[in-house]
Amino acid sequence: MATAAPRTATLTIDPGFRISPVRRRTFGSFVEHLGRCVYGGIHEPGHPTADEDGFRGDVIELVKELGISTVRYPGGNFVSGYRWEDGVGPRDQRPTRLDLAWHSTEPNTVGTDEFMRWCAKAGVEPMLAVNLGTRGVQEAIDLLEYCNIPGGTTLSDRRRANGAEAPHGITMWCLGNEMDGPWQTGHKTPQEYGRLAAETARAMRQMQPDLELVACGSSGVTIPTFGEWERVVLTEAYDQVDYISAHAYYWEENGDLASFLGSAIDMDHFVESVVATADAVRSAGRHTKRIHISFDEWNVWYLDGEASEPPKDSWPVGPVLLEDHYSVADAVVVGSLLVSLLRHSDRVRAASLAQLVNVIAPIMTQDGGRSWKQTTFHPFALTSRYASGDVLRVELDTPSHTTKKFGSTPTVDAVATWDAETGAMAVFAVNRSVDEPISLNLDVRGLEGLTVVEAVVMSNEDPNAKSTADDDTSLAPRPLDVVETDGARSVELPPVSWTMIRLAR
Ligand code: AHR
Repeated sequence: MATAAPRTATLTIDPGFRISPVRRRTFGSFVEHLGRCVYGGIHEPGHPTADEDGFRGDVIELVKELGISTVRYPGGNFVSGYRWEDGVGPRDQRPTRLDLAWHSTEPNTVGTDEFMRWCAKAGVEPMLAVNLGTRGVQEAIDLLEYCNIPGGTTLSDRRRANGAEAPHGITMWCLGNEMDGPWQTGHKTPQEYGRLAAETARAMRQMQPDLELVACGSSGVTIPTFGEWERVVLTEAYDQVDYISAHAYYWEENGDLASFLGSAIDMDHFVESVVATADAVRSAGRHTKRIHISFDEWNVWYLDGEASEPPKDSWPVGPVLLEDHYSVADAVVVGSLLVSLLRHSDRVRAASLAQLVNVIAPIMTQDGGRSWKQTTFHPFALTSRYASGDVLRVELDTPSHTTKKFGSTPTVDAVATWDAETGAMAVFAVNRSVDEPISLNLDVRGLEGLTVVEAVVMSNEDPNAKSTADDDTSLAPRPLDVVETDGARSVELPPVSWTMIRLAR
């Protein structure tokens, strides 16, 4: 019996239709003092690859391969109880504290200066968060003075005495973390937080006017204050801040893979709602500048995954926590969330995959042993490496299918980037069907002489297949055939797949 030809989608790309430049900060990540992200993740002094500062060299190499641009630090929920002073100065004099957020013990072996040394080695830009949970304006400007003032003041000279002669020069700062969440130490109403964020930002700018400051937005679209939180916080702090944050985690709901694959629809909705609210506050307040989004926590997260809850009866250092193992389907969703972030690059100017190592992370480590790549590593690394120049507004004519969560769901999603300087185009496409291949036609207009450089696809007969420490390569993207006839090009996107096609002049 002849099999029916797959349904088709057509992607029309015209280099004249630009959304915005590709923002390198889209490819940020997040290192929190949580589980084995810092201790046993980026830092493990006894490890065979550890350098003189105790940083794992194998992890730094993977961070570079992943193409990480910025790293947010030190939290997360952790920052809302953190005293930054504990983490600087002679190690043997640093206090040991209880971390209430993750029911852990914080030895303060790694602090701001160590993190900055790690950033230099990994080639990433730091993005620091200040504690607006248990602390306030004074501690924020103290930390700024410690980090960014060249010298001649008590705190800047303390930094120099601690071995960091040159100022750290940190530009991007988060004003607290998830202050809308009832789980947050020092949780606040939007009025309380908006005032505190505005006053903290004003004081920080008195010290250094050119900072880029991020106010806390919502920690998810389902939190009851979503929307109203952004409206009130921005009404209080519009002139003082540059960004409002967004946090979103996606998880497979009751085994409903079809809806899970549509997660980017949620992200689109989140971004577009926050943009609408920010622009409404702009009009109401007669402001001229626009507020941008820092999507500084996003990922797939299995709330019932491995060690999903902190221990209740002990306070360990660097316990195994939130060490989710990701599948091919998870990688497809991560790739599709990057499509959404790129598509909104005019307003989403920074983003952080949460997190970087061991904790809901693309990079895993064994204590004293190997480091390895999760499935989610691949779409992130390839998008970061090949998205360049401008993000293009594409026209996508796609079949749809029905999902429980989203109803009629476009089966294919895609975005393209075009670098006029290098003549490189990259197309990132996702097939969200659980069982149907789709033939994708590429119609590239206004560009003569483009040739296909490479096409790769990530998919597997078993979308639940996962990489392991012993085998982190079998599930990596594999070459995909591009059929070229009379100047027309098409690829077949397998069900549950993420694809990258590169063309060049
Ligand atoms: O990334 C894990 C946690 O998720 C962060 O600490 C917090 O900000 C969010 O709720």
